[in-house]
Amino acid sequence: MRVLVVHASRYGATQGIAERIAATLRQQGLEATVQPAQHAADPVGYDAIVIGSATYYLHWMKRATEFVRRNHNVLANRPVWLFSSGPLGTEAKDAQARDLRVVTEPKEIAEFRETIRPRDHRVFFGALDHSKLGFAHRLMLKLSANRASALFPAGDFRDWNDVEAWASSIARALKAYVDEAA
Ligand SMILES: Cc1cc2nc3c(=O)[nH]c(=O)nc-3n(C[C@H](O)[C@H](O)[C@H](O)COP(=O)(O)O)c2cc1C
Repeated sequence: MRVLVVHASRYGATQGIAERIAATLRQQGLEATVQPAQHAADPVGYDAIVIGSATYYLHWMKRATEFVRRNHNVLANRPVWLFSSGPLGTEAKDAQARDLRVVTEPKEIAEFRETIRPRDHRVFFGALDHSKLGFAHRLMLKLSANRASALFPAGDFRDWNDVEAWASSIARALKAYVDEAA
């Protein structure tokens, strides 16, 4: 089974998650190819697709959204899994005790649930290195000084056990899918 893992990543955190998902799928005997959304192959040649994007200002990156919209006909007819890399920090809940992975769900996901009916959408904690930030993001963080350091703490908060467990659940679902079709 050929799986295409597509990612949109500004600073590399999401790419790292995509690569770990692909490595886990390979360990489980699947063929997995990782590609950035802006150069991704036509998904028609793949049996399943995993698509992930970093979240910025509560949105997926444009190149990931465009990949989904451009290929929605194919994606609607394949098993698809989506993920987002967003929240930072060590707290699972916000100040109002809401699950951060729920409140940070990017706006596009509701649309994709309708158009391509993904098997799942998972939010993973992300990573941020302030020294790597581009001009606009650096300025944005400077302007919102105290709030930004609370919302966007520096560090690598990716939970690799969580990522690997999710990828393993995809491998299991795909194996069941093949067995069903046989
Ligand atoms: C300016 C800025 C805005 C961000 N906005 C959000 C957001 O709305 N929701 C969220 O969960 N994370 C947000 N983040 C955190 C990033 O999504 C996180 O750092 C992500 O893992 C970065 O992935 P990348 O390195 O692949 O670009 C923001 C980060 C920055 C610098």
